[in-house]
Amino acid sequence: MVVHLERVDSTNEEAKRVPFCHGLCIVAREQTGGKGRRGKSWLSERDKGLYASFLLRPIERNVTLSSLAFGWAVFKTLSNFSEGFYLKWPNDVYIKGRKVAGVLIEGLKERTVVGVGINLYYTRKELSFFPVPATSLTAEGIEFDREELLRELHRNILETHSLLEEGKFRVELFEENCPLIGKSIKVETDGNVLTGRALGIDREGALVVETETGIKRLFSGDVSVREVR
Ligand code: BTN
Repeated sequence: MVVHLERVDSTNEEAKRVPFCHGLCIVAREQTGGKGRRGKSWLSERDKGLYASFLLRPIERNVTLSSLAFGWAVFKTLSNFSEGFYLKWPNDVYIKGRKVAGVLIEGLKERTVVGVGINLYYTRKELSFFPVPATSLTAEGIEFDREELLRELHRNILETHSLLEEGKFRVELFEENCPLIGKSIKVETDGNVLTGRALGIDREGALVVETETGIKRLFSGDVSVREVR
């Protein structure tokens, strides 16, 4: 079931307020307080992006792994419409060095909320004011039907949730579409900055980084590539 809203503070907040219904999708044309990961905001102008949240049964398993899995679900959805998308740990979707979609997961005791933002119609000029290099599907010349995109996303989110519940989500699905691996990277985590080489992603979804002081496993953070080998 899909609930369409004209305007809301945040579809994630709405998804936390409504009575629980597994699989329900809440989508809005506009958000007045769109939220990004790590306390950032998510620009949500009217009809410029897809702003959707999914209510799901809580996933008992590892949070980082779930976060990767839902990023992969968004990547898989977008890859139906064009080639060239890739993932950046933990769950951003990029194309040609620019972010096109992000995922914000919030867990309550009785529900998991998966919020997905995809830039659809922002123009190059509008995108130039974004705080990070960003793009949109139309700016990349990608053709899509908004309703079909939402249907596809809904299906992939539910399928991914089932994989997670059954313990069948394979981290390789993410890793093979994440070109960070093997690169020299910088990671910002809660005020700390760490540099090193991304070695891979372990079974729990942690990013394994070789640093000067040894091998570290990271469970959250903002990653950027320092050099392309
Ligand atoms: C990120 O990359 O920082 C995550 C962005 C998530 C944005 C979506 S838009 C729909 C849902 N509602 C929100 O307030 N945030 C998520």
